[in-house]
Amino acid sequence: MVSFRGTVFFFIVGFAVSTPISKRQAEQSTEEAFSCEGRSPGMYSDHKNCSMYYECVLGHPVYHRACAPGGPVFDEQDQMCDWPENVAPPCGTQRMVTEAPDPFTCEDRAPGLYADLLNCSMYWECVVGHPAYNRPCAPDGLVFNSLLGVCDWPYNVVGTCGTKPDSRDTGDAMTGSGNEMDDAGSGDENTEETVEVFSCDGRAEGLYSDPSDCSMYYHCAAGHPPYHRPCAPGGTVFDEQDQICDWPENVAPPCGTETMPPPFTCADKVPGSYTDPQNCAKFYQCVSGHAEPSHRDCPAGGLVFDAELMICNWPAAVMAPCGYKTE
Ligand SMILES: *[C@@H]1O[C@H](CO)[C@@H](O)[C@H](O)[C@H]1NC(C)=O
Ligand SMILES: *[C@@H]1O[C@H](CO)[C@@H](O)[C@H](O)[C@H]1NC(C)=O
Repeated sequence: MVSFRGTVFFFIVGFAVSTPISKRQAEQSTEEAFSCEGRSPGMYSDHKNCSMYYECVLGHPVYHRACAPGGPVFDEQDQMCDWPENVAPPCGTQRMVTEAPDPFTCEDRAPGLYADLLNCSMYWECVVGHPAYNRPCAPDGLVFNSLLGVCDWPYNVVGTCGTKPDSRDTGDAMTGSGNEMDDAGSGDENTEETVEVFSCDGRAEGLYSDPSDCSMYYHCAAGHPPYHRPCAPGGTVFDEQDQICDWPENVAPPCGTETMPPPFTCADKVPGSYTDPQNCAKFYQCVSGHAEPSHRDCPAGGLVFDAELMICNWPAAVMAPCGYKTE
């Protein structure tokens, strides 16, 4: 009961479709039969399964091997199994730089420091009325931290220049849509506003606490961007007053636990002069009827306060600990 039109239709469709199918089948069969013939020794992607690869070794049959379990895929370019974010598409998600970025210019930028997208250990400086300066983050090993605008150790830097894991929700870089960013936007902006960007502007050369991390400090040196440096590993914290990294028990709060002696008072003392327990070259003077002492300095030149004689004296004449005299 097949109509004339139906027969013609069937015939045409069958003919039209049969050629491409046989062609595809041919392609599939060559793919299935991966061969090392004509290939140099090495490893080759298995295009049907990203976590597998073929290995061609002279005088051996083709090896078909699997990457370690857990998600790595084969990276033919680097000849190794790696995480998808480090591997080019289609097996990985690594983003390719397809065009050289435009050369950096300070036009339309506020004066300041900017990341050099071509070299993590360089940065750009924009100064009004000057062309852009391209400067290195010395010493070797520092990279530019564009969040803080300083040269920093890689483990403090998030993103391609550093190794610090991004604590904020990174989502999936490949599929991150505008909507997701809008949704997360308000919260992220708020946290970023509270990140105070350290600047050496208006500061003397020297070392400064990092308010967000006690084991780090900033170093301001003329003609350099701020350096962001760590104290030695092992638990030391930065002591801005003494300009060193020290054990917490030697550092005042909030970074350390050093307990400060109570302030000197004359309330429980007879009138007279008393050595400043913090500094032998200073003393407190108590006068009758006043709880508040006067805080005075010994004359410069090495004199220390002699509590026995209530005068400033040479250390050789003063009892320890402020002087050397032992009896
Ligand atoms: C790909 O290969 C791995 C390792 O042999 C295997 O566990 C996995 O099931 C394969 N995936 C597919 C889609 O065939
Ligand atoms: C990046 O800059 C540093 C410092 O100037 C230089 O030593 C290094 O060779 C540069 N690296 C590249 C890839 O250009």
